[in-house]
Amino acid sequence: MFCRLLKVSRQGFYNYLNNRNRPWKYQLLADAMMEILAEDEYNDTYGRDRMHKALLKKNPEGVDPETVLYEVQCDDGDPEVPGSLSYGLTTIYPNRINGECPFTKGHWHMDETVEEVYEGESGTGLLMYMNHDGMTWCEKVFPGSVHHIAGTLAHRLINTGDVPLKVRAVWPPSAGHNYDEVTAHPFGFRVYRNGDEIKVTAHE
Ligand SMILES: [Fe+2]
Repeated sequence: MFCRLLKVSRQGFYNYLNNRNRPWKYQLLADAMMEILAEDEYNDTYGRDRMHKALLKKNPEGVDPETVLYEVQCDDGDPEVPGSLSYGLTTIYPNRINGECPFTKGHWHMDETVEEVYEGESGTGLLMYMNHDGMTWCEKVFPGSVHHIAGTLAHRLINTGDVPLKVRAVWPPSAGHNYDEVTAHPFGFRVYRNGDEIKVTAHE
């Protein structure tokens, strides 16, 4: 039985304005909104309704503030119990914005000696890695793909398909999650899709 369910919704975009300490959950929407604000000096007067309409206009693929971008179901192990394991199922929904494929915030492990295993359940995507030098690379994720993640690498999932990407994960709870580091030093690449073409491009 899962004891935790984390959902990340587009409604959170608006919350982002008042909660800049947690930009990772709403990064796609935040980027889209900042783009709108930069287009005209008067756009900074936009309220929720006008901003929503502007987002819909810019994103014909749809921007429903209630749409969940991704969710994580967790069954947490006990870090005080030697050998304990945590189990998680991440689902990323196929909601692209301006062609950008949806992604999880990603994280480093607090204890970088601790490894983790991902296994693709359904859908298609990428597992993006980054080392402390900023070197970044990806592995393809598909049903049955297995990914042994070194404790010294940041890792993030990206849905490049048209159906939900589901990935199972197992890790010792002693690993911990270091989100601050990816906020301070974000992944330098984003993934876009145009038709069947998938592009990984540097993000400025
Ligand atoms: Fe992890």
